[in-house]
Amino acid sequence: MLSLVPIMSIRFATPDQIDRAVQLLSQGTPVVFPTETVYGLGAPVCHAEAVKKIFQIKGRPSDNPLIVHVSSVQEALQLSIEAPPLFFRLAALFWPGPLTMVLLRSEAVPEIVSAGQSSIAIRMPRHPVALQLIEKLGQPLAAPSANLSGRPSPTRASDAWEDLQGKVELILDGGECEIGIESTVISLLHETPVLLRPGSITQEAMEKAIGQKIALPTNQKDTAPLSPGMKYRHYAPNAHIRLVFNENQAFGSFILSPHPKLGERLLSEKTLYAELREADRLGAPEVTIYCNPSIQSNAALMNRLQKAASKE
Ligand code: TXA
Ligand code: MG
Repeated sequence: MLSLVPIMSIRFATPDQIDRAVQLLSQGTPVVFPTETVYGLGAPVCHAEAVKKIFQIKGRPSDNPLIVHVSSVQEALQLSIEAPPLFFRLAALFWPGPLTMVLLRSEAVPEIVSAGQSSIAIRMPRHPVALQLIEKLGQPLAAPSANLSGRPSPTRASDAWEDLQGKVELILDGGECEIGIESTVISLLHETPVLLRPGSITQEAMEKAIGQKIALPTNQKDTAPLSPGMKYRHYAPNAHIRLVFNENQAFGSFILSPHPKLGERLLSEKTLYAELREADRLGAPEVTIYCNPSIQSNAALMNRLQKAASKE
């Protein structure tokens, strides 16, 4: 069997490099691109072979569906059978931005994108490079986060390089991600919307904006079939993560490590994954994260911290 090792490069996302990315994508070659949440590894949504490569490159379990990135509401409607009124309201309120909505999948979308599920997860990113890339390609991009499966999501082009060097041909560098954790995922498949993954657009912000309650999956077992990705150990560095809960706001929230070079750091959504990667690069055996009350009330951050600390 012929095996080609692609020559890969990180390129600052100039219009020329975006054109190069479009060329590669059109040929069925996945490309890494920036979004405002984390970097994505994209393939044209209708190119089933290219989408298959994404699963291979990441080592992603084949039952974990991908998010499809659009540059217009019109494109989203072409991917789904029916969009409830709530879809249009949420899109008007939060798109482009870090909100992913799960709808019923149109048969025009290859099954592999949704890992065989009858639903499809869609979001419109707000990073200008992501939007330009999708517009120039002329079709949506199916894209998971651009990390090896199980590693923390990449928030800088160099993080994607760390995981995927030799496996992809082009990384478009759009700078450090503005948000740093993955999008909020909400299912609109039933009358009551269900929050599948907390993110920087909070449950409370959405409920207030739409004047409607959003349900939470009752337990992890329920979440697994709803959002398969949630059952895997995610966002996890090699270091052992120890969470310490404290009630003293003034004490702050720090990442500490026995490694002298890592020292104490302020914990935030934007830098969490980069810090976890740094801990691994320094070979820190353990990272202790102090969670003060404001961290504890941040559902998105606690969700990622608990996954990073989980041994499963
Ligand atoms: O911010 C983000 O969402 C980033 C950037 C690249 O857009 N993407 C991202 O993709 O985090 P990924 O593949 O790492 O996470 C997608 C999550 C998984 O938990 C997956 O199970 C869930 O979305 N998901 C995808 N399609 C779904 C569907 N049809 N029904 C329920 N959950 C779905
Ligand atoms: Mg991911």
